[in-house]
Amino acid sequence: MNPTPADRPAFRPEPPDLLAGRGIALGVSGSIAAYKALALTSGLVQAGARVDVILTQAATELLRPLAFQALTHRPVVGDLWAPGSELAMDHLAIAQRAELLLVAPATADRLSRLALGLAGDALDTTALASTAPLVLAPAMEPNMWAHPAIQAHVASLTARGAHFVGPWEGRLASGKLGLGRMAEPETILDHLRWLLARQGDLAGRSILITAGPTREPLDPLRFLSNRSTGSMGFALARVARDRGARVTLIHGPVAQDAPVGVATVPVERALDMQAAVLDLAPACDALIMSAAVADYRPAAPSERKIKKQPGDLRLELSRNPDILGSLAEALAEGSGPPPYRVGFAAETEDLETNGRAKLQRKGLDLVVANRVPASFGAGEHEVLLLTPDASEALQGASKLAVAAAILDRVTQALGASPGTGTDVSVPRSERA
Ligand code: CTP
Repeated sequence: MNPTPADRPAFRPEPPDLLAGRGIALGVSGSIAAYKALALTSGLVQAGARVDVILTQAATELLRPLAFQALTHRPVVGDLWAPGSELAMDHLAIAQRAELLLVAPATADRLSRLALGLAGDALDTTALASTAPLVLAPAMEPNMWAHPAIQAHVASLTARGAHFVGPWEGRLASGKLGLGRMAEPETILDHLRWLLARQGDLAGRSILITAGPTREPLDPLRFLSNRSTGSMGFALARVARDRGARVTLIHGPVAQDAPVGVATVPVERALDMQAAVLDLAPACDALIMSAAVADYRPAAPSERKIKKQPGDLRLELSRNPDILGSLAEALAEGSGPPPYRVGFAAETEDLETNGRAKLQRKGLDLVVANRVPASFGAGEHEVLLLTPDASEALQGASKLAVAAAILDRVTQALGASPGTGTDVSVPRSERA
């Protein structure tokens, strides 16, 4: 069958932020880390969430409710018992409309109160009255965090389904170093997205993604590599995670953090990436190879630093295996159905012809052909999505939008077939 030629490029909007339109109740308790709650509130509002802030008495000693009100454009609940407070009953309405209840920072006192089910102030009673998932971002001195009483409360809250983000190791307000720093707002926000993501159209699916460059050693100090930033693979991981998939990201050396909830397998050489792919691919529903795998490696990397000599130096390079191209054969030996396979093709010309040749040569289900150098590392892409029987052109789309279009194809192809049901074999990296 002849493939349908690509129509005019379709406009592809970015997928919405999972926090957009969601009701988040934010409880702020009295740690000096409360200053980060302002950035958190601002991040939530910018993501489009409806934020109800509840300050404890101790928090109001550090920050004025007006600061939160200015960010959320909504009343802020403070002192439950203030005479004439119109908000005295509001916390119950907040408890009911919250889709998530986040307490950040959560002090030792607040954790203990929540674990014991005390009902002394607006935050306590909101937590008791709400059935929303509870997310806690503790902040306290390392000795307090390590204290058996606090650890017992943490265990009891966890057993009741509370989610902890942090604390992190690092510098504390006291100047000490240790485990007790509140997690950064960006991580907390991404943790909330992960919790909200679980019901998407890829729920129950296992998606394996490769990203970034590989690094081929010449000697202990030097290597051959390329300019890939890994952004496309990380965007794919985020969108797949947001749509409810279990995601594993095999990545070369890159300067970005994986989305919360995505399991990561860091690798260096193409051979390491191949071993990881062969290990994990049989248990996944789809494999998306966005990594810029080096085609060659130094034939004989030196164990010692190569010293300069008079005259030129010639390097001998060996071919790396084609990870995607050799996969069909490797998977044929396994028992389950092969995963849906997506490859990338970076082309300077004849996008469609070269992309289709790659689709056939590597036995793929989908090739994402993009024009270089225009789209290499740049914010906007000119992309063709090529399947054996159709072409879809996308122009001017961001990486997140391209990722969403690719995952639409994957979702469509996987259809109603059951997921692999196999969890990825590496622990989720929550970085918290
Ligand atoms: N790929 C791979 N193993 C390699 C090289 C590439 O699995 N050793 C994957 C990439 O992750 C990508 C696709 O194959 O999904 C790219 O194919 P490739 O043939 O390398 O295309 P180009 O890099 O565009 O190279 P060329 O144009 O030289 O064929």
